[in-house]
Amino acid sequence: MRKIVLEFHDDLGALNPHLVPVIEEAKIHGGRIYLRVVEPRDRQKIVRLARSSKALHHPWIETPTSNFLFNQYIDRTRGNNATGMVVCFKHNDEIVGVINLNEIVLGAFRSARVSYYVSQEHQGRGLMTEGLDLFTTEAFISHGLHRIEAAIQPQNLLSKRLVKRCGFHYEGLAKGYLFIDGKWRDHERWALVHDRETVGV
Ligand SMILES: CC(C)(COP(=O)(O)OP(=O)(O)OC[C@H]1O[C@@H](n2cnc3c(N)ncnc32)[C@H](O)[C@@H]1OP(=O)(O)O)[C@@H](O)C(=O)NCCC(=O)NCCS
Repeated sequence: MRKIVLEFHDDLGALNPHLVPVIEEAKIHGGRIYLRVVEPRDRQKIVRLARSSKALHHPWIETPTSNFLFNQYIDRTRGNNATGMVVCFKHNDEIVGVINLNEIVLGAFRSARVSYYVSQEHQGRGLMTEGLDLFTTEAFISHGLHRIEAAIQPQNLLSKRLVKRCGFHYEGLAKGYLFIDGKWRDHERWALVHDRETVGV
């Protein structure tokens, strides 16, 4: 179970330990969806989602389309520098998408890279906008991040529209940035920066 720690600051901005509730909460609730940490029991559903959505996901992202790839993915999310969450419908708990935080680096950087995909069946319904908004809010708090980046291929218009809606700004083009589907592919770098002054190294 994941702990979400909300910090409360007094009027002058100092952390007030008497106002620090710790919410032990397995789900982060939005309007139509909630987020929860991905678990080994999600394997069949996520592999099915990944396989049936190949036409939407290719060539933008590599997803766990086999049990072997899913197991590798779960292992990565259990390490220190990555996490993964599923986006689920509130009314029936169906998994409609996945959002991951990769390459979490703390110290003076306090940065991570987000990746995500929706099920083809539920694309274009605003569910991922809701999910990514919740996800980034939670990630800034629980990991103490200063910056969350998204690396997007220039032709991936749906993904660029999503991050723009969620407040990311464009930072520039990185040549041959990620190796996806057998090729080093150029990516636009988009970022959401938390204007925190109080949490440092
Ligand atoms: C990128 C991706 C996750 C975006 O998912 P999505 O379903 O398009 O995004 P949303 O759930 O936020 O839906 C947004 C659309 O729903 C529409 N919408 C419909 N009903 C809505 C509602 N009730 N509330 C808000 N928006 C709604 C919005 O207008 C928007 O349309 P637009 O894109 O034409 O402006 C998805 O396209 C995907 O999986 N792509 C392949 C994988 C990928 O590229 N991953 C990222 C690699 S960088």
